[in-house]
Amino acid sequence: MKVKSSFFCNNCGAESPKWIGKCPSCGEWNTYHEEVIEKQSTSLEKDFGWKKNTKEKVAIKKLTEVAPVSNIRTDTLDGELNRVLGGGIVSGSIILVGGQPGIGKSTLLLQLALSVQKKVLYVSGEESEEQIKMRADRIGISNPGCYVFTEVNVSRILKEAATLEPDMLIIDSVQTLVSPYIDSAPGSISQIRECTAELQRFAKVTNIPVFVIGHITKEGGIAGPKLLEHIVDVVLQFEGDQHYAYRILRTLKNRFGSTDEIGIYSMDIQGLREVRNPSELLLSPDDTYLSGSAVAASLEGLRPLLIETQALVSPAVYGTPQRSATGFDLRRLSMLLAVLEKRCGLNFGNQDVFLNIAGGIKISDPSIDLAVVTALISSLQDIYVRKKICFAGEVGLAGEIRPVSRIEQRIQEAGRLGFEVMYVAKPRSDRMNYSNAGIEVRTLAKVDDLLSEVFA
Ligand code: TYD
Ligand code: MG
Repeated sequence: MKVKSSFFCNNCGAESPKWIGKCPSCGEWNTYHEEVIEKQSTSLEKDFGWKKNTKEKVAIKKLTEVAPVSNIRTDTLDGELNRVLGGGIVSGSIILVGGQPGIGKSTLLLQLALSVQKKVLYVSGEESEEQIKMRADRIGISNPGCYVFTEVNVSRILKEAATLEPDMLIIDSVQTLVSPYIDSAPGSISQIRECTAELQRFAKVTNIPVFVIGHITKEGGIAGPKLLEHIVDVVLQFEGDQHYAYRILRTLKNRFGSTDEIGIYSMDIQGLREVRNPSELLLSPDDTYLSGSAVAASLEGLRPLLIETQALVSPAVYGTPQRSATGFDLRRLSMLLAVLEKRCGLNFGNQDVFLNIAGGIKISDPSIDLAVVTALISSLQDIYVRKKICFAGEVGLAGEIRPVSRIEQRIQEAGRLGFEVMYVAKPRSDRMNYSNAGIEVRTLAKVDDLLSEVFA
């Protein structure tokens, strides 16, 4: 038999019969590498094994004639997961769960398999049955309908799955799967592409939802090409800092719902726990007055989240002053410092500046600028900010405070958590009225106003 090989782009998964320097589809240089594949004549004629007891209907229909489906979503009994999926699992959908090693992907899905109290097949190519059992014991829920299968051959997996007919199929992980029709190593682009395509066909034909775990590369993308993300219906990303208990489940793509939702968990000794009121956990409970700390009314996805920003500004002992930021963009910190120097006449030039977002959470929402700036001034001048005050506003280069999105929601959350005063930007229109929020809302136009308003 002739060995057939092909070249694949590491970045986008495009295929080429010969090596090329620049990928014609994504434009990246030097991303092509060779993989040995062995293709059947036409992929449509493949014997999938699992297809024997399912009938595939191929017919063109008028959209108006397609019967409406009611109640197609399965409740996962996990509020956070339901939220990111847009209200539950859509039958026949394929859901990719990405995340760095050790973040808790296997735990999340095993916990789902155990708590959903339906027939679930959990396939693992990474762990032995005993290891899965140990994890299940740790989670401490038992589901008599949860089956485990340690296998990597995708045809065998789907054949067994078609016989078992579970309500849900979980694959841990796509990088371990191998298709018998392809000769390259597990985790290679051609394997991932073929196996995912086969899983997708399975999901669509049998209407069984399939969860697929995928690892993330150092660069942050799901290992294997972007192509994987195109095939699946939903892409969820599980992220967080290993040194903290918080985990955020983010929707990157959802064919059946919004991509603005996030789920928040904390990793306990008994698996993952839903966090319904994240702000309460992220704010330090004690009432001591410390300089260099300010609370931001931020937004993660669609959820308001009050978090503490902490700054430490101290005279630089060694030559060049240091700037360091955890959970916040370092360049943005430099920009805010420059704005403070220029607009408020504050001198940070000979100071070390450290900035930290409490709880190990990474925030990209620009609305925390105002709290960051306040924390910086507070630390520099060693004047504390009164507790029960929070901030939401973006700081522009001219030192102007800009309005941020969904301000009503942020104000409401701050009021709910017992904050008394909230500083925001001047609203764009006069119609905005914050009076009934149960919290005093004050507006600021420029960063200099902070000095007279907050640090007076
Ligand atoms: P795991 O689900 O194996 O991560 P992934 O599949 O994403 O690689 O979870 C790994 C971490 O979770 C591990 O370091 C131990 C921790 N963990 C807990 O803290 N509590 C628990 O109940 C479980 C099951 C795991
Ligand atoms: Mg795992």
